[in-house]
Amino acid sequence: MSEDVKKNASQTASPQPAASAGPAKTGNAQERAESINQGRRKMVLACLWGYLGVNFFMFLRYFFPRTLFQPNTQFNIGYPSDFSYGVNQQFLQSNRVWVRKDPGSLFVIHAKCTHLGCTPDWEPTQHIFHCPCHGSEYDINGINFAGPAPRPMDRCWIAMQADGTIQVDKARLFLDEPYAGIDQFNDPHAILSI
Ligand code: FES
Repeated sequence: MSEDVKKNASQTASPQPAASAGPAKTGNAQERAESINQGRRKMVLACLWGYLGVNFFMFLRYFFPRTLFQPNTQFNIGYPSDFSYGVNQQFLQSNRVWVRKDPGSLFVIHAKCTHLGCTPDWEPTQHIFHCPCHGSEYDINGINFAGPAPRPMDRCWIAMQADGTIQVDKARLFLDEPYAGIDQFNDPHAILSI
């Protein structure tokens, strides 16, 4: 009888370890919940910093407005003796002009086709300007003789400085528009006597 009582007592006592797993499981669940919360907190902080960073970048962007920096329309091309006779392309890339020099005169041609504004090519072997867009052609002085260009290429304002160099202003142009009765190519600032 006492043996049976002992057996029953030991069988009744065996579930004790299961009773102690309850708090351990609760601890793991709490850790998992805590790590999930930490992840959420990190994500919220990352979003917040990202939002603030983008706004700060946009704030800085106001100090750098989208401005087109174009070359100054006024520039100095140096001395007349710097150029040989004919057409000089030294300022074509930087200022979009050709310097045209002859014995006794010098003028500056604005390198813009008077049809639709393309930049013609100087053809040194043929001594003409040829516009690649629609085929207009100009003689060595920029006078149109073929294609749809309605008038010669314009000339830029020029003036001799006290030091003997030549100042150009591309914003002031001289036109030759025969059909409109405009002939400005003989203006003292359209051509220099050298
Ligand atoms: S733009 Fe030069 S011919 Fe048309």
